Parts: sequence; structure tokens; C-alpha cells
Amino acid sequence: MKATALSALGRRTTPPPISWLMALVLARPKLVSLAAGFTDDATLPVTETRRLLGRLLARRTTGQPALQYGSTPGFPALRRLTAARLCAQDAATGEGRVSEPAYDPEALVITHGSQQLLYLVCEVLCDPGDVVLVEDPTYFVFLGILQSHGVEARDVALTPDGADPDRLDAVLSRLRREGRLPRVKLFYLVGYHQNPTGTTTTLARKAALLDVLRHYERPAGHPIYLLEDAAYRELRFAGPDTASALAVPGGAGRVIYAGTYSKPFATGVRVGFGVLPEPLRRAVLCAKGNHDFGTSSLGQHLLAAALESGVYDRHVARLRTRYAAKAGWMTAALRRHFPAHVSWTEPRGGLYVWARLPRGVRTGPRSALFRRALAADVLYVPGRLCYAPDPTRRAPDHEMRLSFGHASERAIRTGVARLGQVLAEVCG
Ligand SMILES: Cc1ncc(COP(=O)(O)O)c(C=O)c1O
Repeated sequence: MKATALSALGRRTTPPPISWLMALVLARPKLVSLAAGFTDDATLPVTETRRLLGRLLARRTTGQPALQYGSTPGFPALRRLTAARLCAQDAATGEGRVSEPAYDPEALVITHGSQQLLYLVCEVLCDPGDVVLVEDPTYFVFLGILQSHGVEARDVALTPDGADPDRLDAVLSRLRREGRLPRVKLFYLVGYHQNPTGTTTTLARKAALLDVLRHYERPAGHPIYLLEDAAYRELRFAGPDTASALAVPGGAGRVIYAGTYSKPFATGVRVGFGVLPEPLRRAVLCAKGNHDFGTSSLGQHLLAAALESGVYDRHVARLRTRYAAKAGWMTAALRRHFPAHVSWTEPRGGLYVWARLPRGVRTGPRSALFRRALAADVLYVPGRLCYAPDPTRRAPDHEMRLSFGHASERAIRTGVARLGQVLAEVCG
């Protein structure tokens, strides 16, 4: 029998690249992976978590709610602490306008990692055939969500300050000419230490992008949202913080802010959050009600306790020092082992270095470079995975994402040295 019982979504969804990258790592125990977006094992807060959980479970009054179902929007104390922290972070930058209701705990939904929020937002906003604008390149797992929903991604070129508003304007103008503006629902940007390039978007740039989106709303016939993914905001180890798009005057009604406690605390706890304008918040809550009717209580109570006790702040301070050192080890190794014609930007936060090879040197999964790297037991993320499948151009294929998040100091040095050797062989 040939017929399948799968839904259109089930048939359409292709395996995410993360699956085969992970499979490669599992199949080769000696492989040095500079590919995974995992965080640093040594700094995971094992002792702090044991103490916090011990306190939480020491009394029935605090233990029982932590082990019980919660509500769909999330644990009220965590929502309050999260909203207050976000508001204080934006206020501390001295940029923009930090005012209610953008930082109201009522606008905040706790999710199973920020990944769930990204999924839910796409689910409640997009139908097959719709268009979502993305940075070029972007977070490749997000591209998977779009693919699965039958949504077309259109890319907007990045500059050192963030996505280029003139390019955004040109893309939207073209969509208008094609009569597809009503299908445009949102622009997704990774605002801080972007995955994969490390770019941080300035507040002025966020304001300019929001202006362009607003300009096209009337012909689109509906709001066009800016989805700001701040997954790496807390992992800043150089330079000042930048206010979120929530602080752009007049931007609050159009900004969706996705945050997470995964990277800055523990990826295994997987607690994220979203700040959403109405009527999106209500729609996301209804969809989340169907998904899981609430994020795991234990993780939420743990994070609330970490935030309230100061454990979280102390942990983030330690992480920043650690990742600054790891980024330094990686860039020092790159300077030492990579050919002079490979360029990269010194990271100021996050987990990645984005290396640009000469255009003729291919890095894709089928390239000689990738195969030789695997044979040398080192893995990177081929840059082309991070480019939207835009029918109007060929995705660049000469870049690689290298992560210093999970690898040890030794693995970083060994991995980069092996890659340097392979590059020397392939580039001649
Ligand atoms: C840009 C970006 N957004 C969101 C996520 C999802 O993180 P989590 O669901 O753990 O919060 C990741 C994870 O790597 C990421 O890189």
C-alpha cells in the first residue's frame, strides 16, 4: 500500500539538520564537535541546583506546587521576576523608552524553552504559503519550523549593526509587486550575539526595521510583527548591553520578545518565555493549552528560586567570564591555525564564531572540506544550513559556524588545529 496516513504537515516536514549532526557525533566517539549549540558542561549549576531543589522540597508548602501541574501562562512568581528583570535590563542600557505595558507580567508566557515559543508564534500566525522574513543567515532550527509549516522564508541581508532596513524595504516592495504582501506575517531576528554570525542589532536599527514593517502594514491589511529572539542576550562578555525592541517608542504593540533561561542557567531545565502583544498572547495561550497546558512546574519553581536568591545573577557572571575565555581560546587557535584568507568577527558574546572562507572554497555537507574534516574527526556547522532556501538566489556555501560552547579548552584547540590542517590541504 502506497498511501500514507500522514497529514500535510507530517508529509512536508523534513528531518532537521540538527538530527544528522547529532547522529554524526554519536556515531564517532573520537569526533571533536565544534558544531553543537550545547553549553559548557563544567559550568552547569549542579551544586546550586541541588541546594535550591533541596530547599524547595524541604517543605510541603513549597514542594507540592513545584510537583503539581501549573497554569498555561506559567508560574506567577517566575513571570513577575522575569518581567522585572527584563525591564531592569532594558532600563540599565539608558536607551529607548522603558515603560508599561510592554513589561507587564500579564503579557508574559513561560514556555518549554524559547524554541516552543518560536514554534507557537509560527503556528498561530502562519498558514502554508505565508511569508516570514529572516536575517541572512539565520538560526537554522527556525528555518525548519518554517519549512514544516509550508511557510516561505525571504531573507534580509545583515550588516554589522543588524539587518539592513533598505534591504527589508526592497524585499517588502518586491512582495507588494508580486501581490503577496497580505501573506507576510513577521520578521524574525536574533537580536543579540546572533546565531550564527554573532551580530548584535542596535536599538536604532530595531527602530528603523519596525518603521519599515509599519509602512507596509496598510497594504498588507494586518499587523506585521517583529519577533526578537534574545536567546544569547545574557551571554554578553564584551561591550555594553542594548535595549530590546520592546523599548522602541511605539513598538510594543508589534514586538514579540523571546527569551530563555536555557543558555544562561541550564539547557536541561529548558525554561523560556515570550512577551507578546494582544491578540497574539491569547492565541499562543490557546495553542499552548493544546500542546501541554503549561510548562513543567519544577523547572519554573527552580528558576524563580534561583532568580530570587541571587544564585542566577552570580551564575551568569561566572558564565560570562568562562565564555570570554573560551572565545579567546578559539580565536587564538584560529589565528594560529587558519590560513590568512579566512576571516571572522571577534565574538562579544554568545557561543559562536562565524568563519568566512574565500568564496570558491565550499563548506557544505557534500563538500570535500566537510568530508575531509569528518575524516580528521572534527565537525562544524556548514554555513549554508543557516541560509533560507530563497528561490531568487543561490545560498552562499563558503562559511562555517564554530561553537566554543560545549567543547573543552583542549577540544577547541585540537578541533581548530585539525580544521586548519584540512583547510590548508583543500585550499592549497
Ligand atoms: C537563536 C536561538 N533561539 C532559540 C533557541 C532555543 O533555545 P531554548 O529552547 O533552549 O530556549 C536556540 C538554541 O540553540 C537558539 O540558538
